[in-house]
Amino acid sequence: MQPVAIGLLGLGTVGAEVARLVMDREGAFARRVGRWVVLRKVAVRDPHKGRSLDLPIDRLSTDPVEVAGAPEVDVVVELMGGIEPARTAVLAALRAGKDVVTANKALLAEHGAEIFDAARRSGRAVAFEGAVGGGIPIIQSLGVGLAGNRFRFLAAILNGTCNFILSNMTRSGLSYDEALRQAQSLGYAEADPALDVDGTDTAHKLAILVQLAFGASVTTALIPRQGIDTLQSADIQYAAELGYTVKLLAVARDHGEAGLELRVAPRLVRRGSPLAEVTGPDNAIRTVGEPVGATLISGQGAGAGPTASAVIGDLIDVIVGRAALTARSLDLWPGGAPEPRLCSPRDVRRRSYLRF
Ligand code: NDP
Ligand code: HSE
Repeated sequence: MQPVAIGLLGLGTVGAEVARLVMDREGAFARRVGRWVVLRKVAVRDPHKGRSLDLPIDRLSTDPVEVAGAPEVDVVVELMGGIEPARTAVLAALRAGKDVVTANKALLAEHGAEIFDAARRSGRAVAFEGAVGGGIPIIQSLGVGLAGNRFRFLAAILNGTCNFILSNMTRSGLSYDEALRQAQSLGYAEADPALDVDGTDTAHKLAILVQLAFGASVTTALIPRQGIDTLQSADIQYAAELGYTVKLLAVARDHGEAGLELRVAPRLVRRGSPLAEVTGPDNAIRTVGEPVGATLISGQGAGAGPTASAVIGDLIDVIVGRAALTARSLDLWPGGAPEPRLCSPRDVRRRSYLRF
């Protein structure tokens, strides 16, 4: 049987780890999916950059769109980040009849409707477990295991960089700048770390989770957000003195007819409560659904290893055909869906007041 040929777009923090796993564990892979899996082409910005991986130069390309559409590539794994050229490459792959795996939350949050429309038209799958929560299987959980629930509430720590900064400022007394530098050197931060610290990355991930949990298509611009970049060390110290820890939380609450309340902001979380104990680059997602009740899932939310674990899981799902089944049953970002009604806590209080 022909091997499955991967076109990998991006060989940075996550892409290099995915490539290493594909090459080092090819036997285990073959047993798992029943076919050999090979890295056929890899798109990078600079083919002459020194890299820890030993890849023949003729497999490298500086044209991700060409790699995505190449006839000798079966599955495209997009790990470049950003909107362009990632968007054009993913659409080219889908139009050429290839399944896509991506960890690019910005792309899905901003262009999910266009991408999933292209996937439906071509009958292919877009798998994106690595886009939210790093190594935590939150997409599988909400999309498959918990798919029968009606969700009312979700509160989550979704950015490993911010959680790493906040916990190191609290526990190790590091300055904000030093903690951010460490998060960058450990591979947790985005290429532009402003997206982490200003709450945009968390809003991208919340938009994806809201699509899965509440079936609502919300563009990131509509999510009110505040990051950790305006916090002072004194805020964190005073919170600690009062028995709280500061966390950057994404919150979604379904108020029924009043609408969906969405917010990303630093919040005081009482020490000892489950979300307060999530430290370092870890993420956690707490949901309340009916009939399941409350669930909490946590683990490392950023970094090469955890994200590569999610990407490899998606790759296996795509190759064995499970991702296409899941995609069909989820019908994400359906065309023509009405925009959800959004509300703020103030709207809800006013409505409750008027009701009494
Ligand atoms: P990096 O910045 O480390 O790597 C990006 C890679 O893409 C590099 O190899 C770069 O090439 C290549 N690249 C960028 N632009 C182009 C282009 N125009 N043409 C060709 N190649 C290009 O990113 P990460 O690995 O950290 O992140 C990748 C994706 O995964 C992003 O969407 C990110 O949000 C997501 N993600 C990251 C996590 C993390 O912990 N880092 C966790 C979860 C998701 P070159 O090497 O030549 O510069
Ligand atoms: N920069 C992101 C974070 C990577 O720190 O959470 C994981 O999505």
